[in-house]
Amino acid sequence: MRVDFNCPVKDGVVTDNTRIRAALPTIQFLRDQGARVVLMSHFGRPKKGPDPAFSLAPVVRELEKLLGAPVELITDPFTDASITATKRLPRGGVAVIENSRFFPGEEANDPQLAAQFARLGDIYVNDAFGSAHRAHASTEGVARVLKPAVMGFLMEQELKYLGEALDKPKRPFVAVLGGAKISGKIDLIEALLPKVDEILIGGAMACTFFRAMGLETGNSLVEAERVDMARELMQKAARKLVLPGGAVIAQKLEAGVPTRAVPRDQIPPGWAMFDVDAATEADFAGRITAAGTVVWNGPMGVFETPPFDHGTLAVARAMAAATAKGTITVVGGGDSAAAVAVAGLADQMTHVSTGGGAALEFLEGKVLPGVAALDDA
Ligand code: 3PG
Repeated sequence: MRVDFNCPVKDGVVTDNTRIRAALPTIQFLRDQGARVVLMSHFGRPKKGPDPAFSLAPVVRELEKLLGAPVELITDPFTDASITATKRLPRGGVAVIENSRFFPGEEANDPQLAAQFARLGDIYVNDAFGSAHRAHASTEGVARVLKPAVMGFLMEQELKYLGEALDKPKRPFVAVLGGAKISGKIDLIEALLPKVDEILIGGAMACTFFRAMGLETGNSLVEAERVDMARELMQKAARKLVLPGGAVIAQKLEAGVPTRAVPRDQIPPGWAMFDVDAATEADFAGRITAAGTVVWNGPMGVFETPPFDHGTLAVARAMAAATAKGTITVVGGGDSAAAVAVAGLADQMTHVSTGGGAALEFLEGKVLPGVAALDDA
């Protein structure tokens, strides 16, 4: 079973176990059926083969706690002894093989490595939505050789909520997009424009649009080479694109620095936008509350540096309030999911995706290779 246990770890301890908890229903289901569960996952981006800094050992300790059962970490999974060990697990027993990126050929989707992974089981289950955009040996290659290859409950849920939001939205359908750079979101904006009623734009990427409108942006992050693209998107989107009316600005990005809230056409030289202002928060909150479906991807400001987390938390709160009155609210992973977790509002959304890049690519309408390779895709 492929899972995405690529969790934040500090000093050998998992600091956010969301992705592990999200895979538990499938793991538990398989255990209850009497399966011997061999889990595989990548962790981080090790560059030179096995490296203790990228070991799954902390994740295994966390999984043991959550399952209340011992979990074996198999460091060298392709020896005959290891393969025998997986077959000798008690029914309902769980083992984890070491970081899939320790094995040469994982990221190149080497068929030989895929065949070695395939020897570790009789059935392949992919519950790693967060890795489904990667065509790697443990996500794509193995699914081509180890049959049946099916999806787990988490994968199913992710595809359901993200897919229904895109294909059968309750209207008005509002997308909230943020983040630093417009360059990473162009495909997303293009893909969403024909489907949504409005796209609310926050984060520093708004400044590239401000520049396209001919406004002074001070020291704000602007992608000069994307200004023409921003202008074209604004023309294409017409009234669907809603930009912040004002900004919270500062002279440098540090917690506790003096800030000012200004209308978007009054960002002075030497100052930079680090968040949306209160009027924009209220405007966006109104549109979110009035929506039938909201999909959110990307923070409204530099939310890891307070007070510039204010706009992002305001969106999280507005989405929680909207959920309570029947709006379908979907948080598309990564930073926005982290913000919702910090705000303690994760359980007040219809769905919070466990995928960052994978959610983004799905919303862009791209085929996810890890899903396409499955029999039930
Ligand atoms: C993620 O955290 O988005 C996934 O686990 C994928 O990780 P990657 O970007 O290193 O492939």
